[in-house]
Amino acid sequence: RHPGWPARLGPLLVPVGRVALRPPRLLDGGAWSHVRTRDRAHLERWEPTSTVDWADRNTVLAWPGQWGALRGMARRGQALPFVITVDDELAGQVTIGNIVRGALRSAWIGYWVAGDRVRGGVASVAVALATDHAFNVAGLHRLEATVRPENAPSLRVLQKLGFREEGLFRRYLDVDGAWRDHLCFAITTEDAPEGLVARLIGSGRAQRP
Ligand code: ACO
Repeated sequence: RHPGWPARLGPLLVPVGRVALRPPRLLDGGAWSHVRTRDRAHLERWEPTSTVDWADRNTVLAWPGQWGALRGMARRGQALPFVITVDDELAGQVTIGNIVRGALRSAWIGYWVAGDRVRGGVASVAVALATDHAFNVAGLHRLEATVRPENAPSLRVLQKLGFREEGLFRRYLDVDGAWRDHLCFAITTEDAPEGLVARLIGSGRAQRP
């Protein structure tokens, strides 16, 4: 067990609805598969390359394996894997992964939001809730987010929250069938002493219920 898991975070209110984070459940398979099958065109170009076709790796039957892997990593202290809900319906995922402790106390953060819930502040709230939790409860000091330079909405999420652009990683990740350059963004605890949720609320982008 590690500090900060399991956890439920939020809710916060944004234009799209009431956003909260919770651990993935075995019973999420139906909703997860429905959204990801429907949203292939919205998601596939930003996700890791796979030899398995999108439809096959996002069936209801693919979820128990995904869920089990996330649960195992969370139990071993290697990840904080959250499902994003909007008005209590599954609307994406935000994952803090590759948690390294010791003198580094760092991890990466990644996220996706359902195509019918975008442009309403959901990802910003999800990343803010997860980041504050990682820093204040899970004891991490730094989070990194790597984004393709073409991914304007994701760049905007990180800029809004105050993640700092630190450099360009060339041919960094195998995404959508090729080695893709990624911009590296990062934030450390010193960058937001008041927390990212307080920053979002202060700028009028989210409200407490
Ligand atoms: N060009 C410029 N800005 C845009 C565009 C665009 N084409 N589309 C949206 N935006 C802006 C929005 O207006 C908004 O900014 P604003 O609040 O200043 O108006 C911002 O981008 C998006 O902010 P949110 O609403 O908080 O984010 P959203 O809930 O829409 O989710 C996300 C963003 C997660 C990137 C979603 O589009 C998605 O799931 N994309 C596919 C998967 C993906 O790319 N995931 C991120 C991979 S990188 C990583 O995980 C570190």
